Amino acid sequence: MKVLYNNKNKEQKVDIKNFSLQKAQEVCEFHKSFPNYNQTDLVELKNLAIKNGVKDIYVKDESTRFGLNSFKVLGGSYAIAKELQKILGIESSVLSYGEITSKKYHDIVKKMTFVSATDGNHGRGVAAMAQELGANAIIYMPKGSAKERYDNIVKTGAKCIITDCNYDDSVRIATQIAQENNWIYVQDTAFGDYQDIPLHIMQGYMTMAYEAYKSLGDTVPTHIFLQAGVGSMAGAVTAFFANAYKDKMPKIIIVEPNNAGCIFKTAKANDGKLHYVKGELKTIMAGLSCGEPCSIAFKILNVYASAFTKVADSVAKNGMRTLAYPIGNDKKIVSGESGAAGIGTVLEILKHEPEVKKKLGINSKSVILCFSTEGDTDKQSYNKIVNKK
Ligand SMILES: Cc1ncc(COP(=O)(O)O)c(C=O)c1O
Repeated sequence: MKVLYNNKNKEQKVDIKNFSLQKAQEVCEFHKSFPNYNQTDLVELKNLAIKNGVKDIYVKDESTRFGLNSFKVLGGSYAIAKELQKILGIESSVLSYGEITSKKYHDIVKKMTFVSATDGNHGRGVAAMAQELGANAIIYMPKGSAKERYDNIVKTGAKCIITDCNYDDSVRIATQIAQENNWIYVQDTAFGDYQDIPLHIMQGYMTMAYEAYKSLGDTVPTHIFLQAGVGSMAGAVTAFFANAYKDKMPKIIIVEPNNAGCIFKTAKANDGKLHYVKGELKTIMAGLSCGEPCSIAFKILNVYASAFTKVADSVAKNGMRTLAYPIGNDKKIVSGESGAAGIGTVLEILKHEPEVKKKLGINSKSVILCFSTEGDTDKQSYNKIVNKK
């Protein structure tokens, strides 16, 4: 396991007002207006905590999010709603499902096409949202994408194309197609003046953090582990908690796959530029297989993260199995490869990395929070990993 401690940037400033408690509440109200909204569970794994010598471990289980098996739809749905608000001139300041799906907009919305690139989860969210609206969606996936993830996108009525390149090049294809056709491009990586939609996607993710914050009540975590692909989820959740907990801000630990550590690489270079990881980015953690960080997210993580880590696939597998076979009356969580990366890293540190544990100040008083950001989004792979104890 590779660890980079972030001692250097604490004096820097970054504007996190877009991720305030008030904004998170507003975004959560938007998601609550969906007919199939249910808050996801924050699971307390007390027995796992006792066994590993910490005070408590909490895992937010996103496998039940809107029936889509991952948190990702939170971002796409909010960003699409904000675009519709702009295009349709919706004046009400509080966005709602009822408003954006209103019959009065149908004729315009059904001609719209949303375009995105995805490892599976984000694109499924965009496609599902387009389906709700009666609009069109075209989704690009990288080479080697799992059939189940492809099928789930096609089921919504979207067009889905598996490219012959990696995630980041698939993003470039989607960008170009969207520009050529004047379609609405919904991606979470900011570049040039393409900033609003990535920001709104990140704000959408705050519903997950806000629900966890509310469920925790007076309990303030000491350490939060966040897995990163382009870093948008981690950036949004980190900025939200920085606003929510202020001087009680927990330590944030970023987790990436060994072969796709673009946030790690950028933090390590520490030269004010984004650094890319190129090539196949091979990892079972498909959602984290991204080589180009989101600029908005990196600015936040560069200031607020305490450490950046890179882990092997075996770490995610161990996380999946641990959540699948809970101890005693701890609740079982079905967690996919990217979903279990955070808890897998916690266990790796607690069991095999005493130096890292010490440096991060993890001890018997620590309260750890992780986000299981997906369920078994590739069931074949999930069963193969989890059934092999
Ligand atoms: C399940 C899952 N977890 C985490 C992430 C990471 O999110 P981000 O790309 O915003 O860093 C992804 C991204 O697709 C994902 O699918």
